[in-house]
Parts: sequence; structure tokens; C-alpha cells
Amino acid sequence: MNVVEKAASPLDALARKKRKKEKTKPAAEKSRQVKPQSFDIDFERMDELGHFNPANLASPLAMELRAVKRRLLRRLGFLRAAGDRQAFRMPGRQRNLVLVTSTQAGEGKTFCAVNLALSLALEDLVETVLIDADIPRPKVRSRFGLDRGAGLTDCLTDKTPWESLAHKAKDGPLTILGEGHSRDRTAELFAGEACQQLLTEISTANRDGLVFIDAPPALAMTDAVVLAKYVDEVIFVVEANETPEPAIAAALDELLDVNPNVSLVLNRCLIGATGSSYSSYDYYGRNDENGADKHTEKETGNGDP
Ligand SMILES: Nc1ncnc2c1ncn2[C@@H]1O[C@H](COP(=O)(O)OP(=O)(O)OP(=O)(O)O)[C@@H](O)[C@H]1O
Ligand SMILES: [Mg+2]
Repeated sequence: MNVVEKAASPLDALARKKRKKEKTKPAAEKSRQVKPQSFDIDFERMDELGHFNPANLASPLAMELRAVKRRLLRRLGFLRAAGDRQAFRMPGRQRNLVLVTSTQAGEGKTFCAVNLALSLALEDLVETVLIDADIPRPKVRSRFGLDRGAGLTDCLTDKTPWESLAHKAKDGPLTILGEGHSRDRTAELFAGEACQQLLTEISTANRDGLVFIDAPPALAMTDAVVLAKYVDEVIFVVEANETPEPAIAAALDELLDVNPNVSLVLNRCLIGATGSSYSSYDYYGRNDENGADKHTEKETGNGDP
């Protein structure tokens, strides 16, 4: 060995050590090194689908979403009643995971999740992640015109870093994680430790923002109830004059068993002279010792968040 080789050998050893360390790094750490793909939000398409458009902040939808957001942000500790953002969040603690579900298909879960995510990211500039956890009927990617591909299920089965499969909007702080490849027995997949770890990781990576999970209907399959265990708030969408009351009661029963923080959004309700089609936000919780449901608040309106 000559002098140069000798001098280089400690560096080689260091490089070898670094490579070995890289290989053994946990998936969570690796994920921070990969960048999501970027995409442009197609606002024309969003308009056609009746979604939130930041160019039209005076639209009834934008105003209705403001009322829903304000309540949600307050419940999660992002807002004081007076409206100061993040004034009293606990340091080092995230309360930012929100699951969106309903009793059955077609009641507006994806519509609600997409609009809340769009309006928080583009109007309030809150860092927002939207995850499609409705594996049998995924719709989030198609709303954004994104191609199907690997996503949530692949993060859970292959430990693929979530950021490498996510899509980040160029127009604002919005990240989409699609559903991923189709899988059977998704409830089992969601019940596993990997799912809780992944959601904690996404929640922590998005410390000052919100994470929405678009889930399947709670009565059709158990996925939503399994996922409800991990989140800070469940938004339960009810379609006005459509969702049967016994179905609402049955689904709420299941959800409240695992998470007391269930809020209710009444979708497609026609209120007042403006014929508002969306909004109305109620809270349900089992606050008493006997486990009786307690209905505590109700709001319909257009206040600022
Ligand atoms: N308030 C609303 N205003 C206008 N269109 C709406 C509204 N709510 C839902 N829609 C439309 O109704 C259809 C069904 O809504 P959506 O896909 O959000 O339901 P879902 O509960 O997610 O259904 P699934 O269980 O099949 O995933 C969509 O085309 C959606 O854009
Ligand atoms: Mg849906």
C-alpha cells in the first residue's frame, strides 16, 4: 500500500460506514430524502367538477367551506375562538390527522375532502396533505387529473417512502398521496402497525399543516373504522335528505366506539335564499359516562376561518 492509498483508507472506511448507515436507515428517514413529483392544478377542470377555485373566493362554496374550516381548525387547536391562527397549539404535539367518511357511497366524501384540502392550501396557505384511502373506489387522483400508480398501499406493503409516491402541487402547499395498487383485505393492511407508523410519519412531517384521509363509507366496509382509531378528528359526511337516519346512527355508533371526535358535515343541503348546497357542521360525541350521544354544536354560515 502506498502513501496515497494509506491516506485514503480511513476515508474509504468512513464512506463504507456511511453507505452501510444509509442502507440501514429507517424508511421514515429515507423518505425525507426523496422529493414528491410536482403537478399543476387544472383549475378549469376543478371548476367543471364544481370544486373550490381560489380565483372565486366569493363563491357560495368558498364561503361555506370557510365555516367548516373555521370549526375544524378550532377543534384541532389551530385557531382560538377569536381567530388567531395556531395561537394555542401544544408545542411538539400534532393534532392534524382528519378522516373523511360517511355511511355509504356517493354522499360527497371525496368532494368534501378535496374541497377542504384545496381551500386550506390555496386560501389559507396551510400545508395540506390529502391521502386517498378508499382503495376499492379511489377518486382523488382522477379529480386532480393525476395518473394512477403506486401510492398508499405500496407504502404499507413495500415500505416505499411516501414522499417518493406523492404529488406536490406547484400552485400551493398541497400534496396528494394516491391510493396505490389495488389490494384485498385492506382493513387488515390498515390495522397493521405500518399504517399507524406511516400516518404518524406524515403527520409529523407536516407538523404545522393538516392531513386529510379520504376513506371508504363506514357501513360498507370496516376500513374507515380501523383508520378512525389513528386520527384526531373524523368528518362524517351526511347527504341532506338522502342518508337514512338509521344508517347515520349505525355508522356513528361504530365510529364513536373508536374515536369520540366526530364532526358532521351536511352536504347538499339547501339553506335560505341563496340555496346553499354545502356546509352545516355539527359535532357529535359521547361525553357522558353512560355512552349516550351528545350533540353539542351546530353552525351554518359564512364566517372567516
Ligand atoms: N355539494 C356538492 N355539490 C356539487 N357536487 C357534489 C356535491 N357533493 C358531491 N358532489 C358530486 O357528487 C358525486 C359523488 O360525490 P363523491 O365522489 O364526493 O362521493 P363519495 O362519498 O366520495 O363517493 P364514493 O363512496 O363512491 O367514493 C361527485 O361527482 C361529486 O363531485
Ligand atoms: Mg369518494
